[in-house]
Amino acid sequence: MHRIAVVTGSSSGIGRATATRLLEAGFTVIGLARHHDKYEISHDHYYPRTADFSDIEKLDKIAADISKDYPKISVLVCNAGFGDFRHLENFSYKQIQEFLNVNLVAHIVLCRHMVSGMKKLGQGDIVIVGSEAALIGKRKATLYSAAKFGMRGFAQSLRDEVGSSGLRVCLINPGMVRSAFFNDLDFEPGDSSENAIEPEDIAKVIVETVGARRGTVIDEINLSPASKVIHFKNRKP
Ligand SMILES: NC(=O)c1ccc[n+]([C@@H]2O[C@H](COP(=O)([O-])OP(=O)(O)OC[C@H]3O[C@@H](n4cnc5c(N)ncnc54)[C@H](OP(=O)(O)O)[C@@H]3O)[C@@H](O)[C@H]2O)c1
Repeated sequence: MHRIAVVTGSSSGIGRATATRLLEAGFTVIGLARHHDKYEISHDHYYPRTADFSDIEKLDKIAADISKDYPKISVLVCNAGFGDFRHLENFSYKQIQEFLNVNLVAHIVLCRHMVSGMKKLGQGDIVIVGSEAALIGKRKATLYSAAKFGMRGFAQSLRDEVGSSGLRVCLINPGMVRSAFFNDLDFEPGDSSENAIEPEDIAKVIVETVGARRGTVIDEINLSPASKVIHFKNRKP
């Protein structure tokens, strides 16, 4: 069966690697992000759509349009997101709202639109890219952990709600992944290949997960770099 997937955050990092692997596996992929020209994906079955996840009202309309245009979507990869690690009192109300819109609310809204079509199909896979921050809270990660813990609770509840309709919900919690995620942060993984997971490693796991025998549900996967080293960019050696 020719399968259709939606991948959020397809313009970079994990999302881009996942979209590429799904295309290689024969999927049609609808990619969502703001800046598709960053690292373009050129493929006959790749359909980029522009969406800013901080604007939930617009995203609601975009998600409704996609569901109407592609009623047979069977895979949704909820991956778009960004990090902002500061003490809580340094965030304005507007920044808190924008952060939670992009990293939490947008994905809930997308799932809300995609679930009906998947139920009609009688099968579907929702893969959510969480984080190690979905498992343990740390200082300066209040918003990030709030969003990722939120996605974890959402995934567990949605799994319970839609499992009997043939839908599977998988949460993937990576440790540090070498990607543009760190471009605007004051830290990054150490230089060694052992200090970070590669986006392709996660993409491989996602494609394996959606390809698993339908009788098996993979609830949650945790991945870590072999050796965790954090490099602080502005700190002198
Ligand atoms: N890198 C890590 O160490 C790590 C670890 C654990 C979990 N994660 C999670 O993995 C996911 C992907 O991150 P990544 O490492 O692949 O980072 P990345 O290379 O920076 O990719 C982030 C993606 O999210 C999209 N995005 C960001 N803000 C958006 C917005 N307002 N509207 C729509 N799309 C938006 C970006 O697209 P545009 O900029 O084009 O909009 C981009 O495609 C995130 O959810 C992140 O929390 C990352």
